[in-house]
Amino acid sequence: MSLFGRSLFSTELLSNEDLEFLFSTTRLFKSEFEKRKRIDHLVEGPDLHQKCVSLAFFEPSTRTRLSFQMAALRLGMKTTSLDNVAVSSISKGETLSDTVRNLAAMKPDILAVRSGENSDLEETLLDLSIPVINAGSGTSEHPTQALLDAFTIQEFRGKVQGERILIIGDVLHSRVANSNLILLSKLGAEVAYCAPEEFNPHRENWKATKKFSDIKDAMKWATVCICLRIQKERHQLHHSIGLSMAEYRERFRIGTAQLKDFAADGILLHPGPVIRGIEISSAALQDSRCKVLDQVTNGVFMRASLLSGILGLEVKKQ
Ligand code: NCD
Repeated sequence: MSLFGRSLFSTELLSNEDLEFLFSTTRLFKSEFEKRKRIDHLVEGPDLHQKCVSLAFFEPSTRTRLSFQMAALRLGMKTTSLDNVAVSSISKGETLSDTVRNLAAMKPDILAVRSGENSDLEETLLDLSIPVINAGSGTSEHPTQALLDAFTIQEFRGKVQGERILIIGDVLHSRVANSNLILLSKLGAEVAYCAPEEFNPHRENWKATKKFSDIKDAMKWATVCICLRIQKERHQLHHSIGLSMAEYRERFRIGTAQLKDFAADGILLHPGPVIRGIEISSAALQDSRCKVLDQVTNGVFMRASLLSGILGLEVKKQ
C-alpha cells in the first residue's frame, strides 16, 4: 500500500516501501533544489496549486511548523496555520478536539497536528476523514523528526544499517527518542542511550535497549550521537526532576572533551531547539561533525516527500 491518502501517526506504521519512497524522493528533491532552487517542476497532480495543508500547532514549534510550511510552498501548495492558541477560540473554552473537528470541516487536503498529551484529541484525529500527520504528540511520537534524522544519518554515514546510534539526555520525556528507536531499529541500526537516572525511559520497547552510564564509554562506542533537549515543560506535568541544569551540564553536555572520544567521521545531531551550553557547547556546535543545521534543511525535503506521497503526486525522477 502506498502512502496515498494515509495518515502518519507513528513510525511503526511505515513499511519498507514507504521508506524507500520517502528516502529516494527526499534525495531527489534536495539535489534538484541545490541545482535549480526549485522542486515544483518535479511533481504533478491535479490542481496542485489549489491543495492546502492545515497546520494545527497547540505546542510551541519553530522548525517543524515552518518546515511543513516551506515544504508545501516549495511544492506549489498552500498552508493555513493555527499556531497561537491565545488568539484562537481555545482561549474562549473550545476543546482541542472540537477545534480540530472544525479545522477538518474546512476541508484541507492534509492536517498536520502538534499537541501535548491529550487522549481525547488522539481519538478525534483517528476519526477524521482527511489524512493527518503527527507533527509531535506529547511524549509519545514525532515521526517526521525521526525520518529526517534517519535521512541525515544515511546522507553523512552512507547507511543506517549497522550504525551505532547513541541517544543522550531526557529520553524519558522525548517523543523524538521514541520515534527514533522504532525507526532506526527497523532500518537495522543499533540504538543505545545515556541518560541521568531521572530521565531513564519507562516504555516497554526501551527495556532491551543498551544503556551507558558513562558518557566517555558511550562516545567511544557511537558512530552517531543524538542529543536531546531537556523537556522542562514536561517535568512539571509528570513529576519534578531533582537534577539541576548545572549537574546535567557537568555530566552529559557534549563539548570539545567529549568529541575527542568520538569517531573522527561520526556525526552529532540534535532535533532542536538546542539549549546551547547545557546540552551541547558552542564549540561542539561549530565542530565539522555537527550536522544540526543539515537536519533542518533535510526536514523541508523529507516533509515535501511525505506531502507528495500522501497526496499521490506523480514525482518525476528526471
Ligand atoms: C522536538 C519536539 O518538539 O519534539 N523538536 C522539533 O520538533 N524539532 C524536540 C524538542 O522540542 O525538544
